[in-house]
Order: sequence, then structure tokens, then C-alpha cells
Amino acid sequence: MAQQNNNRAQFATKLGVIATTVGSAVGLGNIWRFPYEAGNNGGGAFLICYLLCIVALGIPVLCAEFAIGRSTRSNIFGAFENLKSSSKWHWIGYIGILSSVMILSFYSVVAGWTMEYLYQSFTGGLNLSGAEAFHNQFTSFSTGNWRPILWTVIFLLCNYIIVVRGVKKGIEKMSNLMMPALFVLLIIFCVNSLMMPKAKEGLEFLFSPDFSKITPEVVVSALGQAFFSLSLGLGTMMTYGSYFSKDTRIVRSATITASLDTLIAVLAGIIIFPAVFSFGMSPVQGPALVFEILPSIFAQMPGAQIWSVLFFFLLFLASLTSTISMSEVSIAFLSEEKKMSRIKASTINLIIALCGGVLSALSFGYLSDLNFFGLFDINFFSFFDFTSSNLLLPLGGMLISIFAGWRLERSALKNALTNEGKIGVKTFPLLVFCLKFVAPIAILLIFLLGLKLF
Ligand code: TRP
Repeated sequence: MAQQNNNRAQFATKLGVIATTVGSAVGLGNIWRFPYEAGNNGGGAFLICYLLCIVALGIPVLCAEFAIGRSTRSNIFGAFENLKSSSKWHWIGYIGILSSVMILSFYSVVAGWTMEYLYQSFTGGLNLSGAEAFHNQFTSFSTGNWRPILWTVIFLLCNYIIVVRGVKKGIEKMSNLMMPALFVLLIIFCVNSLMMPKAKEGLEFLFSPDFSKITPEVVVSALGQAFFSLSLGLGTMMTYGSYFSKDTRIVRSATITASLDTLIAVLAGIIIFPAVFSFGMSPVQGPALVFEILPSIFAQMPGAQIWSVLFFFLLFLASLTSTISMSEVSIAFLSEEKKMSRIKASTINLIIALCGGVLSALSFGYLSDLNFFGLFDINFFSFFDFTSSNLLLPLGGMLISIFAGWRLERSALKNALTNEGKIGVKTFPLLVFCLKFVAPIAILLIFLLGLKLF
């Protein structure tokens, strides 16, 4: 990996840049969260809001994060301090840390479910038949107290072992292999789902929007999902941008990352919804949806065990490349700004995530009736998920777009996006317009809606 004079590591190849940012973006957000959010929020109505949020808000904010990261070669705190010292902008970093720890907590629980399903695939434990059987299996597993915690802890330890070493090169290599493999597997499953008896109903649910179903909830969820899926709003992509070389094309990388990420989410939808209708289930299942449907799909395919082992293994790796990227936010803060050793920083991150992870894991069993100190009627898992994805990420994204659009010198933004004028970026005026007006206003409105729903 090439080193720059300021000793900051950089990605080795162009493919490495894409594979790693896509590695952060693609994960449970696409395969687990997108289908269940779409299922809960009316399918096509959700998809259309989601796509609008990706194009009008997601891509501009992604460009802003990359640009700020690369031009300051710093983590989210250092970045704002470098650009506007003696101001309060680095507070965005605190929002980032808070949301990254919340996300890491509940995300690890779901990644733990993935590990359980990988284990069950290996040992033949998914050898059941009928959607009902898979439903019961998931319910009895997730409402149990020990196994979900055990897997959450194992997952967080895997994450810890990787982040403690800061092995960027390894991640780059792993993502280079894993992403294409996952993609091929998804295509095969799509073809399989498209041949199911009620494929047409499933596709209609996802692709033909019923505009009357667009409610404030749908809009808030779509924005949250867009930010979650693109890993935006908490400085992850800013940190990754700081590893870009001076020749990396920011707008192009952002567009490719967003397109691949969206493609994978839509493929997941094409796999899930035809099956949901063919198995006579309801799309409104919440977080359990994918863990009940996927094993039922595999069970019907020839060579079921191989498909499910391969799939859950790749999904586990995809989750890991995502949690590595979110852990980097607080670890970079503790090690670069607070001058802690990497081990100490990673250990603090681990301990906090373990506490949040256990609370989230228990949210389906022992703590499922908890009403959050009597204040809210939701469990820890949903609290972490809703607060981070639907409130904190959009808030972070709004501040980042205001910063890039209004506070950052226009020439600095232009230099970053055009590689010091070496490449032309025709969309520059449009991007600036989105960062100055569209993103802050739209996100603010949706954020206020979200607060109200909260
Ligand atoms: N985008 C990832 C996914 O879809 C999750 C993720 C990684 C993330 N880093 C993030 C979400 C930072 C929000 C912020 O699975």
C-alpha cells in the first residue's frame, strides 16, 4: 500500500477504492434491513422514496464526505478542525461517534443471527420444511437469551481482532473477492425466485408504487434507510475518503458506490418478495423477515445446504466489512485525537459495543417487554435502530451538507471534486445546489417528521 508523505495509508488500486467503499456500504443494510423496511412500508411506495433520497441526498452527501475526508486527510474530528478551527463543527464528530456505537450494537446482534444461521447450515439444522417451521425456528432462537448473546459477542470479537490491527490491505483484498462472489450468488437466487409461482405478485409489490401509501413514516424510513445503506452521516465515508489517492475521482466513486449498493438492495428485494407471496406470508414481518424467508428459499433449491452455507458466510463477511468501517470512526477519534494506542481505542469501542449489543440481543427475549424506563414503548434494539438511522444519521448528513455547501470555501470543494482542476466535473453546479439547498432543507423537514414520530 502506497504511503503519502504524511504517512496516511492509501488504497492500492482503483478497484480497491470501490471495493472497500462498497464493502462498507453493502451489508445487512441491503440484505436484511432494506427488504423488511420495504415490506413494512408498502413496497413500491417505499422504493420510490428510497431511490429519490439516494439520488438527491445520498450521492451529494457521499461526495461531500469523500471530498472533506480526502482534502483534510483526517478523521471526522480532525477534518472539521483542519477546515474551521475554533468553531463548533467538530461536534458533528460527536454525533458520529454516538450513532456509530448505537449502530454497532444492534448491527452485531443481526450479524450474530447470520453466524447462527451459518452454523445451522453447516450442521444441517436448517433442514426443515414449510415456512411455518422456519418461522418457529427463528422465533425460538431469537427470543432465547443465551445463543443470541453468545453470537453477538463472538461477532464483536471478530470485529475487534480485525480493527485492532488496522489491516486495511487485508480488507481491500477480502472485499475485492467477496463483493463479486456475493453478487453472483444474489443473481442466482433472483433467477430462482423469479421462477416461483407468485413471482409476479412479489414484483408488483416492490415495483408498482401505490402513491397513496406514501405517509410521513414511509418518507422518514426511506431517508433513514438511504443513509444507513450508504454508510452516511457519521463520518465513515469521510474516513475512507481520507485514504483516497489524489487521483481518485470522487464524484465517479460516489456514483458507482451508490449504484452498486442500490442494485444489491433491489436484488435482495427481488429475491425476497416473490418468495414471501409464494409461501403465503405477509411482507410486514419486521426484522425477522429475511431470516425466515431465506432458509425457506434455500430449502427448495437443489443443493440447499451448499447455497445456505455460501450465502450466510458471504453475508457474515459483508457485515464484517461494514462494522469495521463504522468502528473506525470512534477508533480514529480515540487514537488520532486523544492519542490513545490502537489497542486501547479498539478495546474501549469493544466494551461499549458489548454493552449495547447485549441489551439489543435481549430485546427479543428477556427485555422484550421493556418500555425504556417508562418513557418510550420500544425496546433497546428498536430504540438504537430508530434513533441512529432515522434521526442521528440524517442530522449528521444535514450538517455535513450545510458545511460543504455554505462554510467550506467553494474553491476548496471544487479542487477536491475536480482533483485540483485535472478532471472536469460537469455536475459540479448541480452538486453544489443539492448541498446548499436541496439536502439541508429536505433532510430538515424529514428530520422534524422523524422527531414527531419518535
Ligand atoms: N451501510 C452498511 C450496511 O448497509 C452499514 C454501515 C456501515 C453504516 N458503516 C456505516 C451505516 C456507517 C451507517 C453509518 O449494512
